[in-house]
Amino acid sequence: MIKAVKYMGALKRGETKPHLFECEDGNLYVVKLMSNPVGKMILVHEHIANGLAKYLGLPVAEGKVIYLSRDLIDRTPEIQKFNMEPGPHFGCLYYKNAVRPTTEKRIIKCQNLHQMAGVIVFDHWVRNRDRCSNYFNLIIDEGAVHNKLYMIDHAGCFHSSIRSSKRLKATAYYMDVFWGDLYKEFQPFLSDKKLFYRYISAIEQFPDDEIERIVLSTPPEWESDTTELDGLAAYLIERKNNLKEPIKKLLSNHWGI
Ligand SMILES: Nc1ncnc2c1ncn2[C@@H]1O[C@H](COP(=O)(O)OP(=O)(O)O)[C@@H](O)[C@H]1O
Ligand SMILES: [Mg+2]
Repeated sequence: MIKAVKYMGALKRGETKPHLFECEDGNLYVVKLMSNPVGKMILVHEHIANGLAKYLGLPVAEGKVIYLSRDLIDRTPEIQKFNMEPGPHFGCLYYKNAVRPTTEKRIIKCQNLHQMAGVIVFDHWVRNRDRCSNYFNLIIDEGAVHNKLYMIDHAGCFHSSIRSSKRLKATAYYMDVFWGDLYKEFQPFLSDKKLFYRYISAIEQFPDDEIERIVLSTPPEWESDTTELDGLAAYLIERKNNLKEPIKKLLSNHWGI
C-alpha cells in the first residue's frame, strides 16, 4: 500500500469516475474510490485481476492499494464533493502517453503485440466482457521507438456489480465466447494458434494456492465477507481448466484459424 500525496484532477472518462493522484513513490496513479458510483465491489475485481495478470506476466498497468489520508482529503477542498473516505482505494499506474489501440500503425509498433493473445485468453478466464469491443480498456503507451500495450479496467470481471458467491457458483461452468471490434483490430497480427494455447497452459498451471493468496490479499475494507472471497477463488480454480473450448470456438468462428 502506498500513500497518495497530491490530488491531480478527475479523469475525463469512466463510469467509475476515477481520479488522478500523485503518490509517495513519485508516480501518478488512476484511482478508483471506495465511493465510486458503480460500487465498492469493483475494487475487489481490479485488485484480483491485476494480481493474476501480473503473475502471468501479462502487460497490466501496475496496480496498487492507494491510501488516502484524512489529512490529504481535508486539505484538498476540490475533492470534498466526491465523498472520498480515508482508507484504501485501488490505483493503477498512469500512462501519460496513452492512446487508443486504433490504427494499424500504432498497433504494429507495439513491442508486446503477441501478448494480446494472452489478454484475450485472460478475459475469458475472469469473464471480462468489457474489453472485446471497448477501445478504452486497453491502452497503447506511445514511445519514440516502440509502443507497448497495457491492460486497464477490470471492474467488469466476475459479473461486475452483480457479483455474488451464489452467482459465481452457479455460472462458473459456463464459458462465454467474447468477440468484438477491439479484439478484431489484432486479428491480422496474431495468426498462430500456438500463441493462444501457450497462455491457456499457463493459466491451467496457475497454482491453486497462488490464486487463493491473490484473492485473499484483497483489503478487508473492500470485501469483509470471506465467503465472497472463497467464492471468487473457487470460480477461478474451476474455470482455469475450461478455457480450451471457448478459445477454440473464438479462433475458428471469428479468427479464421
Ligand atoms: N493507467 C492508465 N493510464 C492512462 N489512462 C488511463 C489509465 N487508466 C485509466 N485511464 C483512462 O481513464 C479512463 C477510465 O478508466 P477505466 O479504468 O476504464 O474506468 P471505468 O471502469 O470507469 O471505465 C480510461 O478509459 C482511460 O482513458
Ligand atoms: Mg473503462
